[in-house]
Amino acid sequence: MASRNTPPLWISIAAGIAALCLVGGAVAFAVLWSPAPQQRTQVLDQRGTGQADIGGPFTLVDQDGAPFTDADLLGRPSLIYFGYTFCPDVCPLSLQVMEAAIERLPPGLRADIRPVFISVDPERDTPERLKQYAQTPGFPAGLVALTGTVEQVEAAKAAYRIYSARGEQAGDFYLVDHTSIIYLMDQTGTFAAAFSHTESPQTVAEGIEALS
Ligand code: NI
Repeated sequence: MASRNTPPLWISIAAGIAALCLVGGAVAFAVLWSPAPQQRTQVLDQRGTGQADIGGPFTLVDQDGAPFTDADLLGRPSLIYFGYTFCPDVCPLSLQVMEAAIERLPPGLRADIRPVFISVDPERDTPERLKQYAQTPGFPAGLVALTGTVEQVEAAKAAYRIYSARGEQAGDFYLVDHTSIIYLMDQTGTFAAAFSHTESPQTVAEGIEALS
């Protein structure tokens, strides 16, 4: 049987991590956004023109089970990242980059910026699980962690042009291939910039400061 000839589980998982999280995220990022600094500046300059076309209506719930919609993004700038709590590498890294960027901001902006994590794995990422996850040391303080029904998450993903797909399942375990982009939205909920999880926190902080 083919299944008897497959490599040991740890090799499959390691290969899966590399293939799904790193390569998938990097390729998706490279396709969508060039990380060249001058191009990011151009993206910033396109604010309000609608050219970027990132963002839109969504209805989700936060880690306390309270409704959270796109209207809740208004009034303050946000950093938005789509991922899943079982992600072994890229999602934790992205959230750490967000926190390190926020740490570099002047106090007023630091209090203002709203870090948001939206699950692409709503079947496992319940509000309870997200609540625990959001408290991970090194993640942004005050992280808003959102999930919803599969349909609600699909609508949010479509609004932000996020791709995700489940990888091969091993027992109860599976990885999720997903776009890895840190979005910066301004206080009107308008797309301002996009950053890779490989971006330096200083560059992300400068992008946030450029909003004011
Ligand atoms: Ni991930």
